[in-house]
Amino acid sequence: MDTIRTITRRRTTCRDFTDEILTKERITGLINDAVWVPSGSNNQPWRFAVITDKAKMKAYSDASKKGWLENLATTPFIQQYEKAIRDPKYNIFYNSPALVIIYGNSESYWHVYDCSMVAHNLHLLAEEDGLGCCWIGFAHNIFAESAVKKELGIPEEYQLVAPLILGHPAKKKAISENPNKRKPFEINFV
Ligand SMILES: Cc1cc2nc3c(=O)[nH]c(=O)nc-3n(C[C@H](O)[C@H](O)[C@H](O)COP(=O)(O)O)c2cc1C
Repeated sequence: MDTIRTITRRRTTCRDFTDEILTKERITGLINDAVWVPSGSNNQPWRFAVITDKAKMKAYSDASKKGWLENLATTPFIQQYEKAIRDPKYNIFYNSPALVIIYGNSESYWHVYDCSMVAHNLHLLAEEDGLGCCWIGFAHNIFAESAVKKELGIPEEYQLVAPLILGHPAKKKAISENPNKRKPFEINFV
């Protein structure tokens, strides 16, 4: 029952954080628990970069926004977000106090799946720990770059899988809150 509660209560994704910092120990603890996922051939191909410096995160946010705007014509999926990206007040990391970037070793065949499961575990563990978590797809353009990986100490063969922000939610969720209903989907029992 607790698992179902955590899965459903994770919604709504948190995009508004207090200024309270997250300690290295707390972030390390969450990551240590999150890696208890299955992995292809038990390769456990993940590694992590963590940024807690808000000025650094703002600089990466600016670089990401600039990159998307320069490539707007060739990246149709981002066009729906043009207004937000052009807004100088919009920080793609929502001024959160921590960013955990999950990379997977591309020499391990199933690395994207393995690391995505770690990413979802981090969402659930954050929820249980009274924290908010959000996968920041916007950040994929910058953290996949070789030069940025070098800045973060990530070897070239590691592929970006999931940039996740973490922090204390600015607002408490209402118990009844459930605005993001799941879309209907098909199950074929054959
Ligand atoms: C791969 C992926 C990329 C995402 N990228 C962003 C993002 O860049 N910015 C953002 O605010 N939310 C992002 N999200 C969060 C989704 O918008 C959110 O999960 C979705 O709207 C469903 O809402 P819920 O999480 O409250 O159920 C992303 C989620 C996933 C799984």
